[in-house]
Amino acid sequence: MPRIYIETYGCQMNVSDSELVLGLLGPQGYVRTDDPADADVMLVNTCAVRDHAEQRVLGRLGVLKGFKRAGGVLGVVGCMAQRLGPALLEQVPQVDLVIGPDGYRGLPELIARARQGERGADVRFQQWEHYEDIPPARPAGASAFVTVQRGCDYRCTFCIVPMTRGPERSRKLADVVREVAGLAARGTTEVTLLGQTVNSYHDGEHDFADLVRAVGVLPGIRRLRFTSPYPTDFSERVLAAMAETRAVCEHVHLPVQSGSNRVLRRMLRRYTRERYLEVAAALRHAVPGIALTTDIIVGFPGETEQDFEETVSLVREVRFDDAYTFKYSPRDGTPAVKLKDRVPDAVAGERLERLIAAVRQVARSQNVALVGTTHEVLVEGKAKRGGLLQARTRSNKVALLDGPDEWIGTYRRVRLTGTTGSTFTAWPVAQELAVVG
Ligand code: 5AD
Repeated sequence: MPRIYIETYGCQMNVSDSELVLGLLGPQGYVRTDDPADADVMLVNTCAVRDHAEQRVLGRLGVLKGFKRAGGVLGVVGCMAQRLGPALLEQVPQVDLVIGPDGYRGLPELIARARQGERGADVRFQQWEHYEDIPPARPAGASAFVTVQRGCDYRCTFCIVPMTRGPERSRKLADVVREVAGLAARGTTEVTLLGQTVNSYHDGEHDFADLVRAVGVLPGIRRLRFTSPYPTDFSERVLAAMAETRAVCEHVHLPVQSGSNRVLRRMLRRYTRERYLEVAAALRHAVPGIALTTDIIVGFPGETEQDFEETVSLVREVRFDDAYTFKYSPRDGTPAVKLKDRVPDAVAGERLERLIAAVRQVARSQNVALVGTTHEVLVEGKAKRGGLLQARTRSNKVALLDGPDEWIGTYRRVRLTGTTGSTFTAWPVAQELAVVG
């Protein structure tokens, strides 16, 4: 049986797409391997959002080509594949196939051709593609990703994703519900709905509020998460659905990108700082105790010191529980590459450091305030160090606790006993919680 090795970079949707690719190849007789030296087919599922992500992949391809055996196949899939297309075949001669996010159905055929020595690329968008008939091969466990929307119709000027994932489309609500019900039947209790602007989900008949309610009431689904939402797509209906659906967890990752209205306008974000603050307040009102995390870009073209300081002040004002911070990376083909007033790299680097310090300070004070409180955690697995278990609160805080391996996949009640500033230590306070619908 041919062996397939797949390495995944980038966002959760890529993780989900890799599960899809494995789900597609499984019925073709492929068996998964974690060792590239053992593989007949090696795939790298890629990200194109920043240059750094692409450079890492190019570096990995340099290593993986060394594992390629006679008749073996090295393929690049995902967003970088879509962005570079056939040019990637020229750039890296050991690469045999290049497939974008809408082309995975063609994978068996392109692999077969590559085995005959014929290299190829498929980067066509398929506006209808949801891979509805292909069950993803998910790892066993309590948690699962479920893609509900593909592509993006927003046009943030920094972002390559509309060019790599194509137009926005939503799966039918009934299809999502069927999939999640199936997952619940095999023991999944936590589901994360995925989409580029997931709360703009609309299948022609049902909006995201309907989806949250429909998935949230499924028996066995105890935790419902979604990522990433767009700030202005939290309609009253969506907020009400979140407030009234018990499974919806007290955490939202809400990318803000900048705290300066000038910069937000140049990014073509569809909100002002003030509107973002209103959305954060509305979420806190709808879901008491909700944790908010975000994404922030520094050094966007034209960003002044004052603009940057507004971003830092926004971090303090919202009191984010955490933030992913990035230096702006120009992406060919995006509108922002034409903007003047590029910020020198040294300035952007220095701002990034100051921002990270502010984020850490705010996160630490939020987390210190939680020490001593009790939470329901889902035990996710073994911690990397110290023989402890790693668990997660509904508010997405990571807590380490001592306990038997049998706890993995179960929900426990714990008290948070200490924090490093970002993660927690915890102590069990009661027996395993009964599984409720
Ligand atoms: N440069 C830097 N960061 C970017 N992101 C998206 N495009 C770029 C870019 N060109 C960040 C945004 C987004 C996250 C997934 O990646 O913050 O929310």
